Amino acid sequence: MLRDLGDGLVLRCAKPQDTEALAEFQRVRQFGEDEPVESNADSTRDLMRGDLPGFAPEDWTVVEDEQRGAIVSAQCLISQTWSYGGVHFPVGRVEFVATHPDYRRRGLVRAQMRIAHQWSRQRGELALAISGIPWYYRQFGYEMAVEYWGGRRGHPDAVPRLLDGRSEPCLLRPARPDDVPLLTRLYEQGMRRYLVSCVRDDELWRFDLVLRSRGASRYQEIRVIESTPGVAVGILVHRVAPDARTIVYELEDGVRFENVTPSVLRYLRAFGRQQAGAPKDEQSSRLVLELGSTHPAYEAVCDALPVTIPCYACYIRVPDVPQFMRHIASAMAQRLASSTWAGHTGVCHINFVSEGVRLTFVEGRIKVDAWMPPQLDNRYRPRIRDALFPGLTFLQLLFGYRSVEDLEHAYADCLVASDPAREMLNVLFPPRPSFLWAVE
Ligand SMILES: CC(C)(COP(=O)(O)OP(=O)(O)OC[C@H]1O[C@@H](n2cnc3c(N)ncnc32)[C@H](O)[C@@H]1OP(=O)(O)O)[C@@H](O)C(=O)NCCC(=O)NCCS
Repeated sequence: MLRDLGDGLVLRCAKPQDTEALAEFQRVRQFGEDEPVESNADSTRDLMRGDLPGFAPEDWTVVEDEQRGAIVSAQCLISQTWSYGGVHFPVGRVEFVATHPDYRRRGLVRAQMRIAHQWSRQRGELALAISGIPWYYRQFGYEMAVEYWGGRRGHPDAVPRLLDGRSEPCLLRPARPDDVPLLTRLYEQGMRRYLVSCVRDDELWRFDLVLRSRGASRYQEIRVIESTPGVAVGILVHRVAPDARTIVYELEDGVRFENVTPSVLRYLRAFGRQQAGAPKDEQSSRLVLELGSTHPAYEAVCDALPVTIPCYACYIRVPDVPQFMRHIASAMAQRLASSTWAGHTGVCHINFVSEGVRLTFVEGRIKVDAWMPPQLDNRYRPRIRDALFPGLTFLQLLFGYRSVEDLEHAYADCLVASDPAREMLNVLFPPRPSFLWAVE
């Protein structure tokens, strides 16, 4: 037992024998017993089997009502690796958060969050992430700070048809275990265009390809794109849904998206039609590429998929901001080196009101220290600070989600002391798209 919560409720780690009770709990957790989500039960079973690299059944916390012998609240922590401009960092992702309606607003998730944060610290993770419901997780120290999903959509009928007598220039086939190195390589190559992304190694691809249940909410179809049989030119990952929602589409260097994309769209349209349910099904009247805010395929699909789907944002918690910044200091130093601030020597104080960081630059190298802002600066006279970012807003800048100017515009109490300070912050933290297909 991790904690006795009183009233017959105990907080504990899950055990393998909880699998079916937990799967049933997750099946009805989102929308209630009237709208069960079968795929959540399958995803829960997948996680409880312990096949996901680095995950074990004990990474779930559950609250049990001992009198009823029932699970009444649960969540899990999935450890994984992400990249920040090429620098890998360990992340804990909180997933499948739910409380039975009769037990809500009694602090059961709050109690489990404390445990998740403690486990994450013990594992040496530098950040936590949640893709979650609006506002709720802010109260646990999370900020919406990384761009999440977003893309393009259009009607399947707008997909360009193959001209009579022409054969399809590219064909897609299911990926096989021996394609894993190709999947890892092309995905990694594509992620270089983003600031933050999830690192997917061979083991993880193998899990998604071979071990994930087809009925699970996290299941994806994985395809290899071939120009002629046996010659792979790209990869595609998409959902089993009428809109064939595509989340990864990457090509070999030198292969042009405009040449391959019409074949890919025709494949997706055919796949989506096979999945479509009732004719009025909203999903069956669209195709979706959910590849983030920017992707080279978008130029090739602007006629067929003309509607922009705005991005959501992923919640991020960075328990120790100076420690995180020390970890990614080489990425900051690189940006400095390729700017007019190359070789800079000086100090920059960034104030988060109740804490802060001091960046010391010595001929272009960067040292990051925790800094406690003395209460000497006021709104008009910044004696020490170079910039003030209220609360957790600095995370939006750090993760490339918003620019300095965006934050100054959105928050009246975001204060930058001078034009040179603003210029330097823009160099260190330029806005950049991110793409997250996290491990879940
Ligand atoms: C959202 C949900 C997980 C909250 O579970 P819970 O056990 O009631 O949460 P807690 O009581 O621990 O919440 C902590 C705090 O948030 C408050 N809170 C609870 N639900 C809230 C909501 N929907 N909006 C805002 N605040 C909420 C609680 O009052 C509590 O505040 P307090 O500690 O100051 O009293 C639960 O309502 C649920 O299962 N919803 C359906 C599934 C879902 O949406 N899951 C999240 C997927 S990301």
